[in-house]
Amino acid sequence: MKRFFGAFFVIGLIVAGSVAFQACDSSSSTAPTGSILDEITGYQGWTMLDAVVGPDPFLAAAHGVNNGFVRVVYASQGPDANGTYPEGTIIVKELRDADGNVVGPLTIMLKRGSDFNPAGNGWEWAMTNDTRDSIELHGDNQAMALCANCHTQANAAGNGSDWVFKHPKEYTVDDMAAFLDFANWEKVAENFGPDPFLGQAHGVKDSLHRIVWMNYRLKAFDGKYPTGMIIV
Ligand code: HEC
Repeated sequence: MKRFFGAFFVIGLIVAGSVAFQACDSSSSTAPTGSILDEITGYQGWTMLDAVVGPDPFLAAAHGVNNGFVRVVYASQGPDANGTYPEGTIIVKELRDADGNVVGPLTIMLKRGSDFNPAGNGWEWAMTNDTRDSIELHGDNQAMALCANCHTQANAAGNGSDWVFKHPKEYTVDDMAAFLDFANWEKVAENFGPDPFLGQAHGVKDSLHRIVWMNYRLKAFDGKYPTGMIIV
């Protein structure tokens, strides 16, 4: 699974990298450097806005979105009544595998002060390397055009505010198609015979198997299953 993820992300990085380096050459403004890793220290203790798995209308297939990783978003503080995040806000997005381990780069938004990135409401965009021990790319809307071009969709009414997508996400299922291929999902349990939690009343018979399928084989995360999971 890791390999699968890697391939997708490399494509993403190549695109992001080329955009960023071009822009850096042409003297775009750069934010405070070096300390972004320090600034996000302890981010897992911040408010968790979301834990989501599965496709998203705003995420292209190429960004590792369809590979079963949980996308977890943390924020150091929330927006004001107008949906604008105060200066100093930091938002971190991580990916977790089925065992709950963080995998791949972190993507980060930091609300800078003064005149940093006015076109992007003061946000600095940043991304770590794959092992999350250095900052690979960071900068304003111009330097990080890939991030900004996609996140601008969050500014449309209903999608989010201040370049940040709406959280928590809602997962809606429009038709049976979401379930029809369940027999191709992960079989997580197959039981036979009596069960201490099932009385006689639920059709439990010695002759019937009870099979549980999950669209993504994930453990409960922070006491909850991620949004987007289906269990049949
Ligand atoms: C193709 C669209 C797309 C691109 C490109 C993209 N993002 Fe995102 N990003 C999203 C979506 C959609 C979410 C909402 C959470 C989710 O479902 O993954 C998100 C979430 C985030 C979050 C959590 C806050 C929020 O808006 O929900 C951060 C931080 C973030 N992205 C940073 C970045 C950075 C930094 C880059 C560039 C290196 C980047 N993103 C590139 C679509 C994108």
